[in-house]
Amino acid sequence: MPEFFASTARGLVDPLEAELKAMGMKTTDKTAGGVYFETNWEGCYKANLNSFLASRILKPILDFTAYQPEELYTQILRHDYTKYIRPNQTISIDVTLKDSMMRDQRFVAMKIKDAVVDQFRDKFGVRPDVDNYNPSLRIVVRAVKNQFNVSIDTSGDSLFMRGYRKDVGEAPLKENLAAGLIKLSEWDGQSPLIDFMCGSGTFLIEAAMMAKKIAPGINRKGFAFMNWLGYDETAWEKVVNEAMDQEIEELPFKFYGYDIDSRVLKAAKENAKSAGVDDAIEFKRESVSTVEPPVEKGLLIVNPPYGARIGDEDNLRDVYRDLGFTLKHRFKGWDCWILSGNKELIGDLKLKSTRKHFVFNGNIECRFLKYSMF
Ligand SMILES: C[S@@+](CC[C@H](N)C(=O)[O-])C[C@H]1O[C@@H](n2cnc3c(N)ncnc32)[C@H](O)[C@@H]1O
Repeated sequence: MPEFFASTARGLVDPLEAELKAMGMKTTDKTAGGVYFETNWEGCYKANLNSFLASRILKPILDFTAYQPEELYTQILRHDYTKYIRPNQTISIDVTLKDSMMRDQRFVAMKIKDAVVDQFRDKFGVRPDVDNYNPSLRIVVRAVKNQFNVSIDTSGDSLFMRGYRKDVGEAPLKENLAAGLIKLSEWDGQSPLIDFMCGSGTFLIEAAMMAKKIAPGINRKGFAFMNWLGYDETAWEKVVNEAMDQEIEELPFKFYGYDIDSRVLKAAKENAKSAGVDDAIEFKRESVSTVEPPVEKGLLIVNPPYGARIGDEDNLRDVYRDLGFTLKHRFKGWDCWILSGNKELIGDLKLKSTRKHFVFNGNIECRFLKYSMF
């Protein structure tokens, strides 16, 4: 059975592995950046449509050692690229090198591109063009030292781009990171989730989609594999129908989103609507200093500003103090997860965390901390 690789943000590999297993995939190995799994092509479509946590689904095709450009060229030719696209379609080559003898990323990408287009030219007399923005076939090459790993990208646009987000506030979370943090929080999927600083609503929209069993990729315009010669439309339709059959119309509980900024709340409402979960989420303009529990019991999840991108540190110290005070005095008996990339500001909460995960929000190392309010 073919092997695939689901990539994700650092820190989310374990919940991604659990997610793939729950989809019925046979996971075989994992790295800091993702999980290998075995499935057929229908399973690959399924993972693309249903994974909340993956950034992309790649199909590894070659593994080899190369020290010199000519070796690289010959090794790349061991795979038949003409089985994926026609010569009038487009390709792009995405290269990352680490400590390799060949150091120039652009030169390596050019050598690989030469090998691929020469293969088409030899067979058809014409070659595909390069399109770095919207290629039909994206070839992903990672080399550590002189060990090259080559994959093709079955997803196209990164999977965090669900298609429901029309507008965002400042510093929105990537959708798959928000979903991964929800998994790390061990939210039970059937009780209220509350976000005091919801911004464009990412946590709540992702959680509501999970609860309503709405496939995260259902609103996307498409996936890379749809452009390929072997695309099995019947299998795709089956996967989509199976996903839609699972959807839950109405939930017996609600999600609550607060923010001080009415503009981002407007965006959050629009986003929730296009994701099909606006009936499940109540948004309200409210400051963290005054917010009260909207229900008796639930889980809190908050991504306060942390200075790296928005807000200035002195004002933020007050915001974190307010957040700590609110939790301590008005949310006794609740658990709260806080994502922050600023250690000093976390200190201003004046609370002691009981659990900790390290995750990356883009290139900012963040802590995802659990606080239990007694
Ligand atoms: C980092 S953003 C949250 C982004 C959100 N997770 C998303 O994915 O869009 C922090 C949010 O906190 C809000 N905020 C700042 N100070 C606040 C306060 N005192 N009370 C409530 N919300 C506040 C900001 O308006 C901003 O939307």
